[in-house]
Amino acid sequence: MKEHLNLSAYNNIEDLKNFTEEQFCNYCDDKLASCEKHLHFINNLTLPKNFNICEIGSGNSKLLYQLELHKKINKGIGIEISQSRYNFAEKFKSYVKSQKVENINKNIFDVTPDEKFDLIIAVDIVLQLITPISADAESKLMTWIYQNLKEDGYIILELWSFSSILKKLSLTENSLCTWEEFPASDPFKYILSNISLDKDNNISWKKKFIKKDSYEESVFNNILKPYTKEQMSNLLSKYGFKNIEIFDFWKEKNDCIQDEYIIIAKK
Ligand SMILES: C[S@@+](CC[C@H](N)C(=O)[O-])C[C@H]1O[C@@H](n2cnc3c(N)ncnc32)[C@H](O)[C@@H]1O
Repeated sequence: MKEHLNLSAYNNIEDLKNFTEEQFCNYCDDKLASCEKHLHFINNLTLPKNFNICEIGSGNSKLLYQLELHKKINKGIGIEISQSRYNFAEKFKSYVKSQKVENINKNIFDVTPDEKFDLIIAVDIVLQLITPISADAESKLMTWIYQNLKEDGYIILELWSFSSILKKLSLTENSLCTWEEFPASDPFKYILSNISLDKDNNISWKKKFIKKDSYEESVFNNILKPYTKEQMSNLLSKYGFKNIEIFDFWKEKNDCIQDEYIIIAKK
């Protein structure tokens, strides 16, 4: 069977060949700084002094490194399916001289951790990229998280309800085009997006990146499953999670994009 496009969507993202040494360092510094809000949020949870954390879809592992730099963790595992992002995370690891973070370049469903975690986190729509990949992916993911959390361990998910996008799609015959400019430290200048709903009512998001120096284009598409706060809360309850709480921002208002929210729960 053909592999779901979400499993390879990030294959060329953060490819080291797009970064000079100087760009790499500036980019890593920016990414670490962008985690200050997550750190603030995590500091407000009741976790052991040095906790064990697993990040699903860890990207370049910036959050894990920032937690280590702030002496918060005993061990951090980052699970990231994209080879280019894993390679980037490994170079980032040397850059910050990390000793406590292990990057694993695998699909989450191919990983069986040897120990349970105090905190499992999936930041920036990761869950919504994983649940559309097969009919049973949602239940497999919920079960994976539950089984790999310690008693009283926390789960933190950042999700996007897509409610404004869904509303716009209903007014634009199911096709929405947007663009965004990247910060100076990024090798890409613009991202152009084309958004529509697929046959399963998931969001089909087609992105085109335009490079700064050469105007070279690269394309990547993914399918995202929208969840309202209520749907996600019900899903977590169904799988046995308790103390479910929802937040509209990490540290201060507007540090999440419109319609994004954070949901936390305990085992
Ligand atoms: C939107 S990015 C978020 C990255 C990171 N959490 C952050 O906040 O920068 C989603 C990441 O999840 C990864 N991913 C998607 N499906 C995955 C899977 N089945 N197993 C592991 N990683 C996955 C992607 O490769 C991508 O790097």
